[in-house]
Parts: sequence; structure tokens; C-alpha cells
Amino acid sequence: MNQQVFQQCIIPSCGERYSIHELQTECRRCGNLIDIKYDVPPHPKLKHVFSDRRNHRGNIFDESGVWRFRELINFPSVNCTEYTSYSKVFVSLDGAEGRTKPFQLTKVAEFVGLNPQNLWLQFEGDNPTGSFKDNGMATAFTHAKMLKHQKIACASTGNTSSSAAAFAANEWIEAIVFIGKGKIAQGKLAQTLDYGAKVVQIQGNFDDALNRVKELAPILNLYLVNSLNAFRIEGQKTMMYRILDFFDWQVPNWIVFPGGNLGNTAAFGKAFKELKNWGWIHKVPRLVVVNALGANTLSHLYNKLHLTWNQGNVDDTIIDDYYALLDREGVKAKTQASAIEILKPANLKKALRSLTDTNGIVIEVTDQEMLDARAIVGRNGFGCELASAATVAGIKNLVQKGVIAKDDTTVGILTGHMLKDPDTIIRYHRNSRNIYANAPIVVENELQSILQTLSS
Ligand code: F0G
Repeated sequence: MNQQVFQQCIIPSCGERYSIHELQTECRRCGNLIDIKYDVPPHPKLKHVFSDRRNHRGNIFDESGVWRFRELINFPSVNCTEYTSYSKVFVSLDGAEGRTKPFQLTKVAEFVGLNPQNLWLQFEGDNPTGSFKDNGMATAFTHAKMLKHQKIACASTGNTSSSAAAFAANEWIEAIVFIGKGKIAQGKLAQTLDYGAKVVQIQGNFDDALNRVKELAPILNLYLVNSLNAFRIEGQKTMMYRILDFFDWQVPNWIVFPGGNLGNTAAFGKAFKELKNWGWIHKVPRLVVVNALGANTLSHLYNKLHLTWNQGNVDDTIIDDYYALLDREGVKAKTQASAIEILKPANLKKALRSLTDTNGIVIEVTDQEMLDARAIVGRNGFGCELASAATVAGIKNLVQKGVIAKDDTTVGILTGHMLKDPDTIIRYHRNSRNIYANAPIVVENELQSILQTLSS
């Protein structure tokens, strides 16, 4: 394989390169984030190979919605057609990760005001650990194994930790997870504990936990699997490949998803930019990042303070001044959508780049908008966790404003499974003020009274 793969600082005026045989979560020269770069463009005829692999014939790496696209994320530079060579290198939960595709949901389409044939929702909650994170862990763990690491670590609001813990368990690797006390939904904590990770609970939130784990990783030689790991971002690009493959490489108008630490924003922008540069697609969709109102750093910096990528010359003083203000005033992220309760997103600059590359939009939605949007996804017979419903609330908001037209092809990413956080759902249904509330009917266990209740 003649492919040259390397890590490179995202800032063009720095451009420092690193070998892929190390993990750089930030540039040693300027402290900015890192990209994985491939210098040989993959040939567009692979599109047919990818769709052909949907019939996986028992090959778990074709079954996997991540490794089905292995030629586009081949940072280990293995021979992608020779099973005996790639199967020793790629990490997979037995082909179960990334087996998702867009679905149509008529009740949700009606709720957001789109024509039913134009709204598509991709349920990343259908991944083996119940969130989109499994896409990125497949590639991050592949890299961790290349480097022969025996211990991985992350900070998490719960999904990263569940996914990391599961992959670690399956690979006989130790996982150490940092969480903020009271900041993680019960289902996610249960998974992380059950998969055997060492869970360190700190006084503080996700932002504090991430700072702590970044500090500890080099001291304890821990391989960091948070989304500032560029190898994880490579796996998350495959969510976009699956959409394009599903649409026969016709590009939708909009891709809408929640923004937390902004790993997806980084990954989706990179995926489309690369495909366009390689001549695989001729236009890119517009990305819409949906922030929770109480965790709206990207929205504030982009919409109010007009911070942009500016060809890599991001105005750091705007970010520094804003973060200093948040610290001075003791502002903390606050939303019921605990998955995205993040105030200092690690992938901020990559996200700004993705927004420039895709003419992207950032919006904010309230907790109540997310709660109702989540309920309508459930009412459609599917379901997602609260943070994922930012997607649906965001689409509704933009349709109402006339930004998304009724017949625009719009694909929303539902990032996590509804059972991650049943408490929030039950609380919603018990509160009769909520429009889709559906509380249990309490009756005496007596036939006549039950008949009477059900017929009224
Ligand atoms: N949706 C869900 C369900 C999430 O768990 C997350 C992030 C996001 C959206 C935001 O994605 O960070 O790429 O912008 N969860 C992380 C975690 C922070 O620790 O599980 P992002």
C-alpha cells in the first residue's frame, strides 16, 4: 500500500506533522487540534464496493457500518481486500457497530412541518452500546492497539464512557472513566460499571473531568479516547458515508445534529470536505449544529461574537475573553440533556472549520423544546434520548423560520437510545402540562371500574 498517512496540526500556518505511530491530541508546537491526513485520494469506483458489502456474506468487517468503508479511514495502511491482513488490525464489536441508516418517521415529519418523504432520521442509538460513540471507538481502539496500549481513559457525560468501556472489555484493555457527580444518566452509569470500567467520580462537571483526564493521561500513560483523539473522529465520519451510500451518493440539503463537545461537527465537516476534494461528491450539505440553550458556547461565539474559522486564523482572544467571563461569573453548563451539558467544547476550532466548509448554521433550543421533540419521536414508535431530540427541535425551529424549506431533503442524527435515561421520560409523561404526556392510569383492581375508565 503506497498510502501516506500522517497526523497534522489543523492550523495551516503551523501545519506541524506527526507520525501515526503516536497519539497527538494537540500540536506540540502550537497547542491546536490534530487531523488525520491521507495523501492518496481513494478512487470513486469504491462506491460500488461499499454498497456491495451491504450483503456482508458473514464478513464482520463488511457487516460493520464503520469498516464497510475501510478504504476511506485506512490509517493503519493495511490491505483492505485481504481479510487475513485487515482482520488482525481493525477493532470491531463483531461487526455490530454502525449498522444504521436513515428512516422516515411520518409523525415527526408532521411535527417539524416537513413533507414526510423529505425527513430522514438516522438512529445511532441502535449501535451496540446505544449511541453513535461506537463508530468512533472502533477506530480509536484500532489505533490504541496499534500502539499496544493496555489502558485507555476518557471523561464523559455517559455515552463515551459506555462505549469505551465496552470496547475495552472486548479487547482485554483496562478502561478508566472520569465523570461529574450527578452529571450522567443512570442507564449510562449502569453500562459503564457493568462493562467493568474503573469509574472515577469527581466533584464537578464534564468540562472539569476532561481537564483532569487530559492532565492525568501523560502521567499514567493512558490512551485518551475523547473526541480530541483524531483517530476517533475518523470512525465518526462513517455516519455520513452511510447516509450518502443510502442515497446513492446524492447529497441531501441538510444534516442536523446536537452539538456537545463538537466531535461530530468536526467529523461530519471533515467527511464532506474530503469527499469533495477527492471528487466523490460535487456539493456538500449544510450542517446544522443544535446547542441546548444552557450549553450554548458554539452558538454564542458563532452567532453573537461572529467567531469564524477565518482560514485557520481563529481569533483566540474572543474565545479566551469569553471563557474568562464564564469563569469570573461562575457560569456552568445547565440543561436536562445531560449528554450535551458542556460549556467548553474541545473541538471548537474544528467545528468552526466545518461550519465554514459547509455554510453551516448553529441554533439553540430550550429543554422544553427538546422534551416535546423527544416525546414525538417516541410517539412514532422509535425513541431517542433527550440530547438527540435537539435534532428534531432544531429542524422544527428552522422550518418555522423558513430556513429549511418543506421539500428540502433533511437528515437528522438521533445520537442516543431512549433507554439511556428512562427517568427523564417517565417524569415527562407524569407531568400533565406536557403536550404529549401519557401518565399511567391509576385504578382499583376491579373489573367494572377498569371497564368504565377505559370506555370513557
Ligand atoms: N448526543 C449524545 C447522545 C451524546 O452523548 C453526545 C456527547 C452528543 C450528542 C454530542 O456530541 O460531543 O460530538 O458534539 N456525549 C459525550 C459523552 C460528551 O461523554 O458521552 P459531540
